[in-house]
Amino acid sequence: MPKTWFITGVSSGLGFEMTQQLVAQGQKVVATIRRPGALITQLEQEYRERLDIVPLDLVEPQSLASAVKDAFQRHDRIDVIVSNAGYGLFGAAEELTNEEIDRHIATNLAGSIHLIRAALPLLRRQGGGRIVQVSSEGGQIA
Ligand SMILES: NC(=O)c1ccc[n+]([C@@H]2O[C@H](COP(=O)([O-])OP(=O)(O)OC[C@H]3O[C@@H](n4cnc5c(N)ncnc54)[C@H](OP(=O)(O)O)[C@@H]3O)[C@@H](O)[C@H]2O)c1
Repeated sequence: MPKTWFITGVSSGLGFEMTQQLVAQGQKVVATIRRPGALITQLEQEYRERLDIVPLDLVEPQSLASAVKDAFQRHDRIDVIVSNAGYGLFGAAEELTNEEIDRHIATNLAGSIHLIRAALPLLRRQGGGRIVQVSSEGGQIA
């Protein structure tokens, strides 16, 4: 029985690979992107019936909440939420700017928390589901 997955940050890397493999196996994926990209557009053309592309920027909590709510409305159920979107920030503590550090925390940490908070009541309402948190460390400040 195919499952429906909700995966953030599928324009590249792990998110893209997961999405590609899942749709190829017959699973359904609600895949979030910040902006259109060639890789995901090509995959969407190939697997239109199993791939639902949703715009989402993790640093905008309100749009995040409505993207999650809309996804649960459009699909009978979402079985797995994968909090994958994020990026690495590397640098010496005194060289990185406050803005770089704040944006990294807003994306990798707060973004994941907002996603899980938005999804939890909807997972409970449908009677269950899983949340997979891809390591949000993604950086090194020395
Ligand atoms: N690769 C590693 O060695 C490593 C190590 C530890 C943890 N991680 C974590 O694993 C996850 C995947 O890493 P990856 O290597 O596959 O990275 P990646 O290829 O750079 O992919 C990251 C994805 O996250 C998206 N993203 C970044 N900021 C976002 C935001 N504000 N809102 C929505 N989407 C956003 C990117 O979208 P755009 O294309 O729009 O930027 C991209 O789709 C990340 O959370 C990363 O921190 C990776």
